[in-house]
Amino acid sequence: MKEWNSFDSIVEAKGMWLTTSDGIHLLDGVASMWCNVWGHSKPELVNAITNQSKRVQHSSMFNLTNEPAEKLAKNLIKLSPGMHRVFYSDNGSSAMEIAFKMALQYWKNIGEKKKTKIATLKNGYHGDTFGAMSVGYNPEFFGKFKKQLFQTIQFPVPNKYRIPKGYSFSDYQNFCLDKIEKEFYRDDKISMFVIESGAQVAGGVIIFPKEFQSKISKLCKKYNVLLVLDEIATGFGRLGSMIQYTEQKSTPDIVAYGKMLTGGYLTMAATLTSKKIYESFLGEFNDRKHFFHGHTFTGNPIAAEVANENLRLYQKNNLISKIQKTSKIFERYYNEILNLDIVGDVRHKGMLMGIELVKDKKKKNPITTKTSINKIFFEAGKKNGIYLRTLGNIIMLVPPLAISEKELDLLLSRTVDTIQSAQKKVL
Ligand SMILES: Cc1ncc(COP(=O)(O)O)c(C=O)c1O
Repeated sequence: MKEWNSFDSIVEAKGMWLTTSDGIHLLDGVASMWCNVWGHSKPELVNAITNQSKRVQHSSMFNLTNEPAEKLAKNLIKLSPGMHRVFYSDNGSSAMEIAFKMALQYWKNIGEKKKTKIATLKNGYHGDTFGAMSVGYNPEFFGKFKKQLFQTIQFPVPNKYRIPKGYSFSDYQNFCLDKIEKEFYRDDKISMFVIESGAQVAGGVIIFPKEFQSKISKLCKKYNVLLVLDEIATGFGRLGSMIQYTEQKSTPDIVAYGKMLTGGYLTMAATLTSKKIYESFLGEFNDRKHFFHGHTFTGNPIAAEVANENLRLYQKNNLISKIQKTSKIFERYYNEILNLDIVGDVRHKGMLMGIELVKDKKKKNPITTKTSINKIFFEAGKKNGIYLRTLGNIIMLVPPLAISEKELDLLLSRTVDTIQSAQKKVL
């Protein structure tokens, strides 16, 4: 904290550009925490907020509902094969807590009391609340709370750049899947398997190899384990398809959306369930099968309305096909970035790129610095007119999805300049 004794304040934001109180213009390489879709001050989204705020600002989802939230639920179900009902919350961590609670309660509802364990992949991230920290346990982020966190069963994840000695990439994938299957076979207390869908993002952009997720999905079905997918960072086009689990040919029992759901303008997340899960909660009052969970701002009508408008814009502008074209610009820069002195690996899918910084390309040991890596790269980026953020030793390039080819080209060329200037300080 000491290093950050003052922050730049953003006073205006338009399109892909942020303006600080000192009048500095920064091209947004972070999409306002990975959630901005259309850039800033998009008139249609601003109007949706303005118009809805004149009708109903907020009510409650207890005993009542509201029109925008109902419409949004229908829209989300239409988009999400196999899903049947939507439960709202106001941030991704809560959406994941809801997913864990629903999955655990499902087994209680149907009388399977032994199903209480939670399985997951190492290195995942699902938010900063206690359940999310337990499931997405990362010692670097959450080590200080380890004693208060609950146990999960963690399986290794295939990271092509860091395969253990003696394995080929495909052998290692099989090894990981085999481990999962053996444990599922041995332990019938496993209630659910929780993973980010398509890639681990905060864990350093670890993109799942083809078929990895679909094979996990099949194992879940075979051994009666619920599949809980977290699409908060990877869905809605970030990895190049609207709903990542359809591309991954996997069938979740529960899936969570957040971040880009409202175009990144207001705070809303959603947990969707299959009919099977939903129906297990239907009972007589005294059965006590209902779901005890509700946040103050659940189903907020202004957030829901801007989400509806956001989804309309996805369709109207054919955003997913556009992303597939724009994201090719990343590929153009792949070799140039990889050849930089401190870059060990570059991982890219859709509108996401992770650039792993190492001290030594052969040894692959992460760079270490006296001040934080993030601060060094943020300041260097600022000098080049871009807003950059690193997570550990990874530069995360996560621009707004609708960024133009020209602006993405500019972001990437300035990222190259930034790494070149910052690496002198790091090596
Ligand atoms: C995959 C994933 N799940 C959950 C979350 C938590 O979402 P929120 O920050 O809205 O609580 C994040 C946030 O970055 C995420 O990347």
